[in-house]
Amino acid sequence: MQVQGLEDVVAAESSICFIDGDKGILSYRGIDIHELARKSTFEEVCFLLWEGRLPAREELAATQREIGAERAIPGEILSFLASLARTAAPMEALRTAVSALSAADPDGADMSPAANRRKARRLTGQIGTVVAAYERLRRGQAVVPPDPGRSHADDILRMLGGQTAPSSAVRALDIALILHADHELNASTFAARVTAATLSDMHSAVTSAIGTLKGPLHGGANEAVLQMLREIGSLDRVDADIRARLARKERIMGFGHRVYSTEDPRATHLREMSRQVAESSATTLWYDMSQRIEQIVNAEKKLNANVDFYSASLYFMLGIPPDLFTPLFAVSRISGWTAHVLEQYAHNRLIRPRAEYTGPSYPQPYVPMDAR
Ligand SMILES: CC(C)(COP(=O)(O)OP(=O)(O)OC[C@H]1O[C@@H](n2cnc3c(N)ncnc32)[C@H](O)[C@@H]1OP(=O)(O)O)[C@@H](O)C(=O)NCCC(=O)NCCS
Repeated sequence: MQVQGLEDVVAAESSICFIDGDKGILSYRGIDIHELARKSTFEEVCFLLWEGRLPAREELAATQREIGAERAIPGEILSFLASLARTAAPMEALRTAVSALSAADPDGADMSPAANRRKARRLTGQIGTVVAAYERLRRGQAVVPPDPGRSHADDILRMLGGQTAPSSAVRALDIALILHADHELNASTFAARVTAATLSDMHSAVTSAIGTLKGPLHGGANEAVLQMLREIGSLDRVDADIRARLARKERIMGFGHRVYSTEDPRATHLREMSRQVAESSATTLWYDMSQRIEQIVNAEKKLNANVDFYSASLYFMLGIPPDLFTPLFAVSRISGWTAHVLEQYAHNRLIRPRAEYTGPSYPQPYVPMDAR
């Protein structure tokens, strides 16, 4: 067994997400991600992940209303965010705000299944607003209150930019939210389940997950991709730069995956969306550079682009600041995290693995202080 990194270890039973990494298949509750990306909405996917089936028309309308209503965040959390606005990075602010939101949650310490379902919807709504409000606060702009009548993607872009975003941008973000919503036992979801399995509360589980998503080997990779694109700066510098990085044995962010040996099916959509947005933008530079990097890394390292590679150029062309890329990942993945936490509570057993001991052999003498 591969102990390092728990590779290929099955650590939970779950009926939420199916991945076949050799065939490049990803499905939520058995429905193929390509179909969901083409036909669904983020709110519909939330219902699917939480309830295990697609909603009927009225159920979808109710889910949209509930998430929309839950986008409102308490005034004390906004004041708290304002107090962080000069120093904290958005991902730190989000992690801290979710932890703080537990104290303001109307369901409090209620751990009943009904209260936890409400918390799942509430956190899904609130996280979008926290990210948008924090961005406005750190820019010294007035916070734009949520409009519960809009879709999640539409309202987040409006709360960020202060005006209604074009429908093409709204649909692009909606698809990105669908694509990022769940991914089986990825590191942050595993962290959420480990926390939930101690019967700790939903806010604690999501706070653990956000802290885990933040790392550059996980959700933080999308921001790192944009940093790389900016460092390279022009199409004619891509070849030399990427080859030099590979020669220095650096990791190229946005490539490789623990589970997929073929193309990450999410990358297929994000590449296409990045291309489409580039073609209607002032410049196609970020897409062109990304495409060239992909060709080189494919050829030299046989590594495929993952979900984080083309989301970087896509979000940047949509006018989203790079350090919001990972928080936006959380805005989507909250649906998967909370679905997994609900599933964990429903069939709980403490998650407590063992370690293979590699320290000094037992027993070692306890050497008195004066003799050390
Ligand atoms: C995702 C990731 C963490 C998976 O890691 P893993 O399953 O533990 O794979 P390993 O780190 O063991 O890598 C296996 C080999 O591929 C290489 N490799 C993996 N990803 C690479 C990358 N992005 N760039 C260059 N080489 C890479 C490793 O150097 C290693 O080569 P070696 O055997 O010669 O040392 C890894 O591919 C990575 O760091 N990617 C970049 C970060 C990223 O995009 N994360 C988002 C994931 S959705």
